[in-house]
Amino acid sequence: MTTRIIGTGSYLPETVVTNDFLSTIMDTSDEWIRTRTGIRERRLVKEETTASMCTGAALRALEDAGMQAEDLDLILVGTLSGDYRTPSTACEVQAAIGAVNAVAFDINAACTGFMFALNTAHAYLTAGVYKNALVLGGETLSKIMDWNDRSTCVLFGDGAGAAVVCRDETGMVCFEQHSDGSKGMVLKCRDRVNDNPLVSQEQEGGYVSMDGQEVYKFAVTMVPKSILNVLDTAGLTPDDIKYFALHQANIRIIQSVAKRLKQPEDKFPISLDTCGNISAASVPILLDEMNRKGMLKRGDKIIISGFGGGLTWGTALMEW
Ligand code: ACO
Repeated sequence: MTTRIIGTGSYLPETVVTNDFLSTIMDTSDEWIRTRTGIRERRLVKEETTASMCTGAALRALEDAGMQAEDLDLILVGTLSGDYRTPSTACEVQAAIGAVNAVAFDINAACTGFMFALNTAHAYLTAGVYKNALVLGGETLSKIMDWNDRSTCVLFGDGAGAAVVCRDETGMVCFEQHSDGSKGMVLKCRDRVNDNPLVSQEQEGGYVSMDGQEVYKFAVTMVPKSILNVLDTAGLTPDDIKYFALHQANIRIIQSVAKRLKQPEDKFPISLDTCGNISAASVPILLDEMNRKGMLKRGDKIIISGFGGGLTWGTALMEW
């Protein structure tokens, strides 16, 4: 017994923000952003929240799966940008969709959040604890960007993606996941500092900052290694894989992974050109796009892989 994704959904905010628009409010250009990252535009929230976007994605995934919210036992949301410290985004989604029988909690593994949540759901389901899970990645990254820091704010977008996961005889073949906390400071977002009466301090930060070149080196080294590990465990090679759906951080990272795996770039679907980097939401949004375009047929072998803050990274091999 393993687990299978039986439905997908996604939700993007209505407002499109192009590179050209950004170049009217800061010292940047479409040419700089596009050539270094592959991003042309992203969606940013006005009225939407992390929970409202996750709810939209969840309802679409349930509809795609033909499942009722009451049938869910587990809701996991990968996010680093929930609307509240508590309740969790997962609890907000539970209430909004009426999943009265589900236990719900968030997982923070930055851009690997959906992967870790999917693997956690797999562990619960295959252990026999729960039967049906809803796994999401949802982010409002625009609220934790420093809009005066052109080197980071142009990279990210807002949105949510969801997958309904059930026990089945085929589906997840194998996965692996890793963390390296010793390198955590290369990609960080500081919390409020403690200003209790004993240590009163000025508030600072609260925005994402990163060492882009270190993140780049980490990604192009660890992602191909992780994919090859998973393939090796399954006795397969990259040629056996129909698509590699990677976290959508940067086109150059994806091209480098394709080159290292000696695979054509058209096996690496892209959504970052229109969405930017949406951290934990990138992989499920991309999966939903592939699913709705009819790119995935039952039995296709695909790899999904996420990497990001923590540092964290994880890869899964699955049969659709
Ligand atoms: N517009 C115009 N110029 C800019 C911008 C901008 N938005 N941002 C930075 N610059 C300038 C810098 O000021 C610098 O100018 P200088 O040479 O006069 O000092 C110049 O461009 C080069 O800046 P770098 O930061 O060195 O740019 P780099 O070529 O490294 O590209 C990038 C930055 C795209 C982030 C790159 O490091 C990269 O691809 N990193 C991979 C990590 C990544 O994509 N992270 C995404 C989030 S993390 C994740 O999802 C896991």
